[in-house]
Amino acid sequence: MIPVILDGDPGHDDAIAWLLAFASPELDVRGIVSVAGNASLENTTHNMRRIVTLLGVGGVPLAQGAARPLVAQAIVAHSVHGTSGLDGPALPEAAVDLDARPGAELMAHLLRESAEPVWLVPTGPLTNVATLLLAHPELKARIAGISLMGGGIHSGNWTPAAEFNILVDPEAAQVVFTSGLPILMAGLDVTEKAYVLPADFERVRAVGTPLAGIVADWLEFFFAYHRDLGYAGAPVHDPVAVVALTHPEILEVQPLYVQVETTGEYSRGATVGDVFGASGELPNARVALGIDRQAYVDLLVDAVAHYGRG
Ligand code: RIB
Ligand code: CA
Repeated sequence: MIPVILDGDPGHDDAIAWLLAFASPELDVRGIVSVAGNASLENTTHNMRRIVTLLGVGGVPLAQGAARPLVAQAIVAHSVHGTSGLDGPALPEAAVDLDARPGAELMAHLLRESAEPVWLVPTGPLTNVATLLLAHPELKARIAGISLMGGGIHSGNWTPAAEFNILVDPEAAQVVFTSGLPILMAGLDVTEKAYVLPADFERVRAVGTPLAGIVADWLEFFFAYHRDLGYAGAPVHDPVAVVALTHPEILEVQPLYVQVETTGEYSRGATVGDVFGASGELPNARVALGIDRQAYVDLLVDAVAHYGRG
């Protein structure tokens, strides 16, 4: 099994990524850390606790991460996920407590305690991962790699150049992409192809459990924002960072040298991929560019059904 630490800003797609991670027999989830992004840290932390309660996986340590980026002014995206960050269906009240340590310190503790190197799976701004790397460089050898949702070689979404997770904390992203650690990057190039159609929502709902109804309602809520933008389905970004570890065979991946722009007037937060090798630099990331969408949706439906099997 692959040991992983999850980190995100739930967020409907973070929630589905975590549901998939816990349902994946390939993964051993060692802990979860929250970060601000889709909502305030208070809300993403509360959502983290509610998601873990909902999934019934309360044995895993949870910690609250960074409230704000390393140096940038905070950006919070209420428009996509609602004020709570996880608007839509009612969820059980949180019944799991937080570890007392700050998120990056829980990550450090879990790395020290692990018999084997651990993958970090961030699906929000990279502040916690960067904080860990800056505070504990001696623990890099205990990190197997970083499988992240973020960036976009060919476009942004929050600005024309920058994807939201990277834009929120470009300095943190630069720490990650210059860390020398193995990086799997699930950026918009692949996640915009990882869309879930309304007909797929009904496949999820047809699983027939209360959880299935909640996930279908999450998908419908998340889709509402995108439908108004002309999308045929909901681009469920974050679970692709999990699939990159559990089912890499359904992805098309290309090694690329990726730099994070931190000073551009129009391009701050861009992940600049050296597609033609112009820099002469060796690749520092394996970038997902394509996905078998049907296989992806099947994995999500199967993951929801996993919980119903008790
Ligand atoms: O740009 C998409 C990313 O921003 C996803 O991780 C979504 O949850 C939001 O955090
Ligand atoms: Ca996210």
